[in-house]
Amino acid sequence: MAEAGGFEPPWGKPRMVFETSPLNRSGTPPLDCPSFRDILIIPAHQMINNNILKKILWPSCYVVLLAAAIFGLIGERPKEIGQKISWDGFKTVPPAGEVQAAAVALEVPPNYLGSVTVDVEKDMTLAYVNKTFALPASYVPPNLKQITGFSTYGNQLLRADVLPYLDKLFAAAKGAGFNLAIASAYRSYAYQVETFYFWVEQFDYQTALQGSARPGHSEHQLGTTVDISLESLKFETFSSSAAAPWVAKNASKYGFVVSYPPGKEQITGYISEPWHIRWVGVDLATKLYKRGITLEEYFREKNTWQSS
Ligand code: DAL
Ligand code: ZN
Repeated sequence: MAEAGGFEPPWGKPRMVFETSPLNRSGTPPLDCPSFRDILIIPAHQMINNNILKKILWPSCYVVLLAAAIFGLIGERPKEIGQKISWDGFKTVPPAGEVQAAAVALEVPPNYLGSVTVDVEKDMTLAYVNKTFALPASYVPPNLKQITGFSTYGNQLLRADVLPYLDKLFAAAKGAGFNLAIASAYRSYAYQVETFYFWVEQFDYQTALQGSARPGHSEHQLGTTVDISLESLKFETFSSSAAAPWVAKNASKYGFVVSYPPGKEQITGYISEPWHIRWVGVDLATKLYKRGITLEEYFREKNTWQSS
């Protein structure tokens, strides 16, 4: 298991390039359910040796097959739910039926849980992004600016309005004796496709889900989230260093929350990632830190449909 190292982008290793497909198909592993041909045509073919029947049945099968194809009854069936909901700050319109059940089932983290695409509205810094709720594939945050002033893995971008807070956090860390670096900041939808499927290739789909967000479901796509590390850029080193508890304790003063802290795995659906911090503003971050709750718990509180 790669729990110690996490499932963020595999820097330093060659990354496989995967097809960027529409959101409602992107995270769907190949289905292995029997096809129409497996369950009907092949058995029929084996059973029927009568030439006359063959002449009648075979053309009939093709007609049925063609009709099924036309009505979308065969072929790939994305499991993800492409339903759109309205996102309005803290008020998420209750998704209905199947989607609601999927969202409540978040208590069982590794399972695949469908996908609801949130609308792009307002500032998006408090967009509800998790294993169920996804950003549109086309969403690119405004005012992305390169992070400068400290070590980054390659060129890293963040929303310009978040950069001053990051600067202050890093300055405070330096004062406490920690030279922090940025391993990953803004990640586009396409980059997350590569990242997530890299981990699927390394392990398997269910394992990848534990530490890597499916495309559209990553907070990194918001441009407000960074993975911090020490200069080594290794998560293992960061997690076991004194910098991790320092960040957990102090990040909120600069508006950041640790999205996936230890002990909350059953709630967030992800393994602990002490390096992954998201900017939500000083007031909210402080409030959440004082209460000891994650952003995910806060969003659930605000959405009565999830607690009923
Ligand atoms: N590692 C976090 C969950 C992400 O991929 O966004
Ligand atoms: Zn991260």
